Amino acid sequence: MTKQKKKYIIANWKMKLGQAESLTLAKEVKRKYRDGGQAEMVLCPTATALAEVGKILAGSKIKLGAQNIFYHDSGAYTGQISPKVAREIGCEYAIIGHSERRKLGETDEDVNRKVEAALKNNLIPIVCVGETFREYEEKKTEVVIIGQVTRALEDISLKEGQKIIIAYEPVWVIGSGQAVDHGIFQHIVQIIVHTAVEMGAELADKFEVIYGGSVDEENVREFIVGNISTGVIVGNNSLEADKLIKIVENINEL
Ligand code: PGA
Repeated sequence: MTKQKKKYIIANWKMKLGQAESLTLAKEVKRKYRDGGQAEMVLCPTATALAEVGKILAGSKIKLGAQNIFYHDSGAYTGQISPKVAREIGCEYAIIGHSERRKLGETDEDVNRKVEAALKNNLIPIVCVGETFREYEEKKTEVVIIGQVTRALEDISLKEGQKIIIAYEPVWVIGSGQAVDHGIFQHIVQIIVHTAVEMGAELADKFEVIYGGSVDEENVREFIVGNISTGVIVGNNSLEADKLIKIVENINEL
């Protein structure tokens, strides 16, 4: 029997909470999370709260993730987030290429360099890919996804024990309250798996696919499919401890 893979819940708080709110929420999640079962919970607070949230999570099973990193460790890069420092303050994960960043000008090349920088610093990259509504309407979803995955993973090599998480997040369902149709999701997951595997044996057993976009406690089970799709990114519904914990519990019941 194949071993059940670990499940992931990535809480993306975006820039929606203040400092005190972030710390209060982190404490509440930690208190209510207990052992978390088979699910790995990653809290991704806004950059200015990372260090303090990290202190709260220290010693617990909950992990810390950055919402963004830069592709250099140090230097004259005003306003950037060093992957090396992110690691130093306790991050184990980094979201890369979220559509809200791509919208502000982040390119596939940036994403690729950030993936490399994350791995170099022992951060697990969570690479977001997804089509806009226009691309969806124009039936370009597959082309967009294949392109984004290919360019993100180009020339990336992983050391023993390293992995990459690829998150399918259709841009048009993020924050809409309505997750993507299950059929579309399954189809795109297959495309992502195919694309990553085609890129070489090197990556074959070293990536996970997860889903993001209006995940809630009701629909979360639809997006965890055996060892094929192993987790979720949660935005709005990660801003309340009870909702987030309910999502974890529902994943654990699978
Ligand atoms: P949402 O956000 O759950 O609010 O749709 C998800 C994301 O942007 O990662």
